[in-house]
Amino acid sequence: MWKFRDVISILDFNREDLEHLFSMTDRILERLFDVGSLLDGKIVATAFIEPSTRTRLSFETAAKRLGAEVINLEPHISSMAKGESLTDTLRMLDDYADLIVIRSPYEGSAKHAADVCEHPVINGGDGTQHHPTQAMIDLYTVRRLKGRIDGLEFGVVGDLKYGRAAASFLYGLTRFNVKRIWLISPEPLSPRPELMDRLKSLGVDIMKTENLEEAVEGVDILYVTRIQKERFPDPAEYEKVRGSYVITRKIISRAREGLKVLHPLPRVDELSHDVDDTPYQAYFIQAKFGVPVRMALISLILGAF
Ligand code: NCD
Repeated sequence: MWKFRDVISILDFNREDLEHLFSMTDRILERLFDVGSLLDGKIVATAFIEPSTRTRLSFETAAKRLGAEVINLEPHISSMAKGESLTDTLRMLDDYADLIVIRSPYEGSAKHAADVCEHPVINGGDGTQHHPTQAMIDLYTVRRLKGRIDGLEFGVVGDLKYGRAAASFLYGLTRFNVKRIWLISPEPLSPRPELMDRLKSLGVDIMKTENLEEAVEGVDILYVTRIQKERFPDPAEYEKVRGSYVITRKIISRAREGLKVLHPLPRVDELSHDVDDTPYQAYFIQAKFGVPVRMALISLILGAF
């Protein structure tokens, strides 16, 4: 079901695949089996040509906790700095490693890497729409904290146009039977038509608003995202929306009991630090789940269980 598969988009996986990943993650967290030497002798390569903290380091931690070795491409001190192409670089990594994790600012890089490489490729985020492993972690976090994904009401706030974490999370929700999704963003940051079409075609109850207060009252999960400043083709476009929403303790105090606030991180100014020590805060738990979810993912792909 998972063995030797590439992970390019969350839509490559059906509900059954995701449930299997989640139960493997549960087993890792419960230490039901000793995983420390599951991937002895394997090598995982990371090829990140865009900044990352959690994704790269949690993949590296996950691989090491399973007993694998990790090699990291450092674009600034590799031959890419001399002008070597990404394609040639990937060919080399494919010769050295058993699994390649790639991150890039360009749409379609992960698919291209999977075409070039014989070994499995995992998309650690490419361009503006796909970050499948982040969506897996986010869905796992919801399932773990709320006991289910079905039947819940979700609010997704922020940059729904350029934010690949938000887009992937929304695509991921379409694999479940959620009650309602609120899309909360300034109009210029609305989801792309292909994402809207998919959400609508599944008959999910979609509410679109710029008014955070209106949405916050009924949601079980509030998924907050950063405005992706670096992806705006025109800086003037960014200036128009910058600072247009800030989630504070005061705003979410009108939420229903049990609300959980998620954020893929990094946050800049859209999520106030005064939420950190409230029961709503779930973003640090979400970040922590990055390691066990990626442990389960790597093990499944490399056929270790
Ligand atoms: C996200 C990304 O890189 O897309 N970060 C992450 O992987 N957790 C979100 C972001 O940069 O805003």
